[in-house]
Amino acid sequence: MQLPYFPFEVMNEAYKPSMGLKPLDLSRWIEIDETFKTQVAKKKDILKNHQDLVLKIEPMASPAVLETQELLKEHLLSYFPNKYSFADSIFKVDSNDSYKISNDPTEALKNMSQWVQEDFAFMSPESPSRLVGGCICFPSRWNLPQKMSLGSDAIHAPVPKFKETVAKATNQFLERIQVEKPMWRLNWTLHDCPEIFTPFPDEGRSDLTSSNILEHTYLRMERQTLRRLPKTNFVLFTIRTYIFPLKDVVSDPQRKIALKSTLDHLPIETANYKGMRKFFDLLKNSL
Ligand code: HEM
Repeated sequence: MQLPYFPFEVMNEAYKPSMGLKPLDLSRWIEIDETFKTQVAKKKDILKNHQDLVLKIEPMASPAVLETQELLKEHLLSYFPNKYSFADSIFKVDSNDSYKISNDPTEALKNMSQWVQEDFAFMSPESPSRLVGGCICFPSRWNLPQKMSLGSDAIHAPVPKFKETVAKATNQFLERIQVEKPMWRLNWTLHDCPEIFTPFPDEGRSDLTSSNILEHTYLRMERQTLRRLPKTNFVLFTIRTYIFPLKDVVSDPQRKIALKSTLDHLPIETANYKGMRKFFDLLKNSL
């Protein structure tokens, strides 16, 4: 099985958080794949039933949301002309899903979240930059209301070793990122369920054994992009979530070696933070 990204490599020192930023070619800002229909249907369901848990906008972020609506519309029309169309103020997805371009920030953010698989977060153009809005339908064991209005230090407080390694560089990056230099990075974790909407911490299942663990664990990757919006100067953070069964990931021997090496170099507090408390040792011994 092909993977769009692969976050592991053979390691010779302990794992620690890293910036891992790479220049983003803006033509690749948004990624659409065969899971589009399923993920967008899931978003529609989440927005209908749990909007308060996934969508928030501070008043100061309203112009940035409306700027993004316009940027995203233009981007999708130019890079995916067979999928998106626009006429008479109506934006259409796959010719049957229609959205009125809105001046209301909540409506606009809700709509554009259903145009693509990406989640959106808006960081203010302040020092330090703060999370002032977003639509996060696919969070990995956190939720937007608990992080709203916080700066990067407080947002990342639960991440082991974040403060000692990349906290300062992350704040500086958010303050200095330029419109012309968008970037992207990858985050990964392992879950013991395929559910994509995981807004709360979870104890994890207790029935995993060495013979069934690869059947019930999943690699979850987040392809994140960061760009400064040209008009409002806010920083737009997008998260595109990919989930793959671990048994498919390790069907390739090289990938299995790299995953095992990464897990062998993962500090226990990082494994626990990532939600692997119950199956970390079992998984390492099963690879
Ligand atoms: C260059 C910028 C950034 C870097 C280097 C970075 C790095 C990281 C790392 C290493 C983790 C831990 C992931 C894991 O081990 O599973 C993390 C988690 C997280 N990041 Fe970032 N991040 C950046 C920007 C942002 C921004 C702009 C937001 C705004 C929403 C954000 C929100 C989060 C959240 C909510 C978590 C989970 C925290 C928790 O578990 O409570 N990050 N980030």
